[in-house]
Amino acid sequence: MKSLFRLDEKKLMSLVIVLAAMTSVVTYLNLSENSGVTHHVIDLEVDQPELDKPTYMDDGMPPNPAVVQRDLSHYLCILHTNVVYIYAPGADSEILHCILTRFGYLKDIFVTIPVNKRSSAKDRGYDDVRSTQYLRPSGVTSPLRVYREETINVFSRPARYDREIMKEMFPENARYITMLRRPIHRFAADFVSSRLDKHFNTTAKAESPKMYLDNPEYWESQKTTSYCTRNCMSAVLGLPLDETMDMRDFQATLDAITQLDSDFALVLIYEYLDQSLVLLKRHMCWGVTDIMHYVATTPLPKKETLARLSTEEHIRNFRRVNSVDYLVYDYFNQTLWRRIKAEGPDFHKEVENFRNIQSQVAKYCRTAVDNWASANKTVIVGTTWNEKFDFTRKMCYMFGREKREWDSLLKERYFTSKRRPYKISLPKLKV
Ligand SMILES: *[C@@H]1O[C@H](CO)[C@@H](O)[C@H](O)[C@H]1NC(C)=O
Ligand SMILES: *[C@@H]1O[C@H](CO)[C@@H](O)[C@H](O)[C@H]1NC(C)=O
Ligand SMILES: *[C@@H]1O[C@H](CO)[C@@H](O)[C@H](O)[C@H]1NC(C)=O
Repeated sequence: MKSLFRLDEKKLMSLVIVLAAMTSVVTYLNLSENSGVTHHVIDLEVDQPELDKPTYMDDGMPPNPAVVQRDLSHYLCILHTNVVYIYAPGADSEILHCILTRFGYLKDIFVTIPVNKRSSAKDRGYDDVRSTQYLRPSGVTSPLRVYREETINVFSRPARYDREIMKEMFPENARYITMLRRPIHRFAADFVSSRLDKHFNTTAKAESPKMYLDNPEYWESQKTTSYCTRNCMSAVLGLPLDETMDMRDFQATLDAITQLDSDFALVLIYEYLDQSLVLLKRHMCWGVTDIMHYVATTPLPKKETLARLSTEEHIRNFRRVNSVDYLVYDYFNQTLWRRIKAEGPDFHKEVENFRNIQSQVAKYCRTAVDNWASANKTVIVGTTWNEKFDFTRKMCYMFGREKREWDSLLKERYFTSKRRPYKISLPKLKV
């Protein structure tokens, strides 16, 4: 059953309210629950203040056509803008972090950053929200601040998931997401990016991920810091581990995984990034430009290096000390593919379309960046999943920004009053 309704948000909200009044017990209506075909969900969350006055910075970005359309031609859904992203070091090459930060920045909603100059992320690879303070809209005394409320809309930090504490920290309707990566690849990536060689007995020198993978138990005994090297994704997700970061109890682990499955709106898998992002887009009711990313440089370690490190022997060795991460990864990989199947056949066509747009943009940006003689924009044609839109050179810069650059932009916006020089309104939905 493909929904043919095209409604704007006000109408949708009144429909929602009417439905709620009629049934009085309906809290959640999923149009596709039994049909098994296309999406999607009317989520009866009335508390969506950001829907009232969505605004965009005129930051070289035209109003986002995909957001405007909000896929209402395909399915009914309500935009979600509150999102909490939990991630382990090395698990995603910053792609999703930059996507979420850009989303929050362009929508002018609150994207938090830690108050602490020195966080425990450097010691362990992730923070403990118990001991770490995050900026709130009025959390820092600045006479110039102009924020309107206290909500943290976007949280994207390497912080350990803590159900109870985070429930207090974030809005009730926040969507929790995480991204997992093949455990041995995550380790190798983190080894390179976090200079893990420094975290082992330097006399003995673990110079490469290969050396570690040849004999993980030995290197674990030679560790000189608390930096996470075992079951790191599970640790960040708050699974019960013992003091050596090994599984504490099998049943408790399974229970915790089941709990995560129900707490989290979506667990993305790095190996299936495009599919994961399209699932995210559909779940959050976002547009295609919201999930686009442009990576100018090849992330380290290279694909060939990862392949070389993933010999059967290395995987066997690594599994011995990362059994929880493998359980978690395999469980959520299965979940992802079950969800993809439930989306119906047009899901794969949408992924294909997304890939085409991404490669067109990558090709354009490679020639356009710093080459002012080249075309000022490329035109992305309209399809079933997106309206026609221009991708400009300025957007290449914005979509290519790294985590570091986003962090300084967020700080700059937070600490200056000139944060919204050219506010423009989001055009009305076309109905
Ligand atoms: C570090 O490695 C060296 C050489 O293998 C060894 O002699 C020494 O005891 C190790 N130090 C610690 C603290 O384990
Ligand atoms: C993920 O699950 C799918 C479907 O069961 C399977 O085909 C694939 O091999 C799995 N991927 C990994 C990396 O384990
Ligand atoms: C790009 O835009 C600039 C400024 O609007 C204009 O001067 C230039 O001719 C344009 N370049 C191309 C190749 O269209």
